[in-house]
Amino acid sequence: MKNIIISLDGHSACGKSTLAKMISDHLSYVYIDTGAMYRAITLYFIKNNLIDQDNNLSKDFINHVDNIHIDFAKKSNEEKFTVRLNGVFVEKEIRTLEISKLVSSVSKNQIIRSKLIKLQQSYGAENNLVIDGRDIGTVVFPYAQIKFWITASEKIRAQRRYLEFQKTNSDITFKEVLEDIKRRDNEDENRTISPLIKPDNAMEIDNSYLSIEKTFQTALTHINEMMKDER
Ligand code: DC
Repeated sequence: MKNIIISLDGHSACGKSTLAKMISDHLSYVYIDTGAMYRAITLYFIKNNLIDQDNNLSKDFINHVDNIHIDFAKKSNEEKFTVRLNGVFVEKEIRTLEISKLVSSVSKNQIIRSKLIKLQQSYGAENNLVIDGRDIGTVVFPYAQIKFWITASEKIRAQRRYLEFQKTNSDITFKEVLEDIKRRDNEDENRTISPLIKPDNAMEIDNSYLSIEKTFQTALTHINEMMKDER
C-alpha cells in the first residue's frame, strides 16, 4: 500500500509546525519539519563562514554540500524526532533571529533545494508522513493525498513568534519580528525556484482567530473525510 502523505504549506509562523506535530502524534505518522532542514544548513554555513551578514552565499559553499548531513533522530530522553546537523542535535540553535534572517539565501539556492527535496522524498518513500514547509504540496509531494494551506494574518503571526522569542531572547522587539516575517513572506513568494503558493486541492485553514485545539479538530475532520476515500 502507498504511504500516506499529509502536507502543510504556508507562510512563516502561521502555526504549521504546531498543527503538524499534533496530527503526527494523533496518527502516529513521522513528522518532518522541512524549515528546520533549511535552518540547519544555514547554521552550517554560518559556522563555516560561508554566508555573510548581508545574506550573500560564498561560491565555496559548493565544496561543502556533500559534507552536510541532515537527518531527524530522537534524543535518548525524548519522544520526538528533531533535526540533526552532521549527527548533532541543533533544534535550539536554529531558532534564532540570525538564522531567520539568513535562511532565505540558502532556501532560494537550487543546489540546496535539490539536496533537501531528495531527502524529504526519501522519508516519504519509507513512512507515512506529516510534513510542513513552503513547497511540499506543490513540488516535494505534488501527489500528497491530503494537503493543507495554513494562513493567519501578518500581525498575529508576528505576535506569536514574538512571544516565542521572548522566552529565550527578550532583546528582540515586536517591530523586528514583524519586519522579519514580512521580508521572508516576500522572499518566499517571489523567489524563482519553488515559490510559496497555495497548492491545488489544499484545504485552507485561516487560524488567525482559531484556538490550536479548534484548528486541530478542523484539520482532523478533513483528514478523516479524505481517508475514507483512500480506504
Ligand atoms: O518554516 P520556517 O520558518 O522554519 O522555515 C525557515 C525558512 O526556510 C523559511 O524562510 C523558508 C524556507 N523554507 C523553504 O524555502 N522551503 C521549505 N519547504 C521550508 C522552509
